[in-house]
Amino acid sequence: MKLWGGRFEKSTDELVHRYNASIDFDRRLYAADIQGSQAYARALADAGILTQEELMAILDGLARVQLEFDEQRFPFDPADEDIHSAVERRLHQLIGPVAGKLHTGRSRNDQVATDMRLFMLPEVEGLHAHIVALQAVIVDRAVQHIDLIMPGYTHLQQAQPVLWSHWLMSYFWMLARDSERLEDWRRRAAVSPLGAGALAGTPLELDRAALAADLGLDSISANSLDAVSDRDFVVEFLFCAALLQVHLSRLAEDLIIFSSREFGYVRIDEAYATGSSLMPQKMNPDPLELARGKTGRILGHLVGLLTTLKGLPSAYNKDMQEDKEPVFDALDTLNLTLPILAGIVRTLKVDGDRMASALDEGTLATELADYLVRQGVPFRQSHAIVGQAVRRAAEQDVPLWALSLETLQALHPAFGPDAYQVLDFWEAVEAKSAPGGTATRAVQGQIEKAQDWLQEHSTESTDKAMGF
Ligand code: ARG
Repeated sequence: MKLWGGRFEKSTDELVHRYNASIDFDRRLYAADIQGSQAYARALADAGILTQEELMAILDGLARVQLEFDEQRFPFDPADEDIHSAVERRLHQLIGPVAGKLHTGRSRNDQVATDMRLFMLPEVEGLHAHIVALQAVIVDRAVQHIDLIMPGYTHLQQAQPVLWSHWLMSYFWMLARDSERLEDWRRRAAVSPLGAGALAGTPLELDRAALAADLGLDSISANSLDAVSDRDFVVEFLFCAALLQVHLSRLAEDLIIFSSREFGYVRIDEAYATGSSLMPQKMNPDPLELARGKTGRILGHLVGLLTTLKGLPSAYNKDMQEDKEPVFDALDTLNLTLPILAGIVRTLKVDGDRMASALDEGTLATELADYLVRQGVPFRQSHAIVGQAVRRAAEQDVPLWALSLETLQALHPAFGPDAYQVLDFWEAVEAKSAPGGTATRAVQGQIEKAQDWLQEHSTESTDKAMGF
């Protein structure tokens, strides 16, 4: 039974049927499809298209179909093209010809656009919860190790000393933006296309707003052509997913470097590492490498879908069927990556001594330049003077603080004996006390802000993801 068999004399080529079919992957939409159909049936009854009896038969039949899916005993048929035809076909088998009234005024075009939104809304909430759970772990570890000092890097070269907690918290704020982007995404996703029909709208007296409310959606689409062809919410989600995965990838990369023998700042818990089949001593950060590596596929999904949509003529085109697998894959990938990274951060062994002893005194050169600035020397000049001091120290093969006061004063008379006081890693850290800086007090302030953020953005789902 084909939904569109009427005008055809010949049957579909077998390869074309397989090519056309999306049932292998869009079966994942079954609950959303049934939810949409149940609400649509109620709207049809409200509009006087279905009698109460017919409505009850359809609702009851849909509930039975749902149960078959839930219990993984839905009888698929080789002729099923997609989830919409499969559900309708089965409903017909269960309740007879009255099933045929369900599709009145509806097209698979507005149906599938609705299904994707209904499917994605709770999924994205679940994803959001995983992000917030990772953010909470980050704050916990930052609180626990607020006072460890380590080299801060630019260009992966030691730059200035920072607190480890400050480094870690930098990821909190990236993830906060990711969370907020997904919260904002909801506004454009919770829109109901139902009632747009195939492209032109519905001839029925449907109360579209009531139908949207029944589906838990916030508003209705304003233009039926746009409604059936709008996949912005899918693209936007893939962008959110891509940027999120990029952040996770960078966190993974930092941890890979910091856990290497040469750095040794952190140790990955054995439960999150893997071994080598050849070298018995190896402990490899495979999960972190995968977090980094899987970024490629998610970026690919975003570019892939944008490319699919580019150049499509108005309204629905079958190309749009390609919107589903990228969403499923992005969700599956992130729903694993996020809790794994949370586990890695939660169980990380942190070696404050290794970090502190890795600090190169060159990272204090800026402090010396700032010292001269406080004596009234313009920064550009002090930068050049301290550059010469660094060179002298290198020539004499001694640290910066071993240069004699005469040597310093020969470079600039403003150097006094107190200049040596600024050549201290902790002094350097605590000097950055303005909000957002790495001084202990500033990091504490940042952590309080983060805790407020967590309170504000927590939901029942985030509590669950955090294991409360
Ligand atoms: N499986 C289709 C999709 O995902 C459903 C919509 C089909 N509409 C159509 N006019 N052929 O896009």
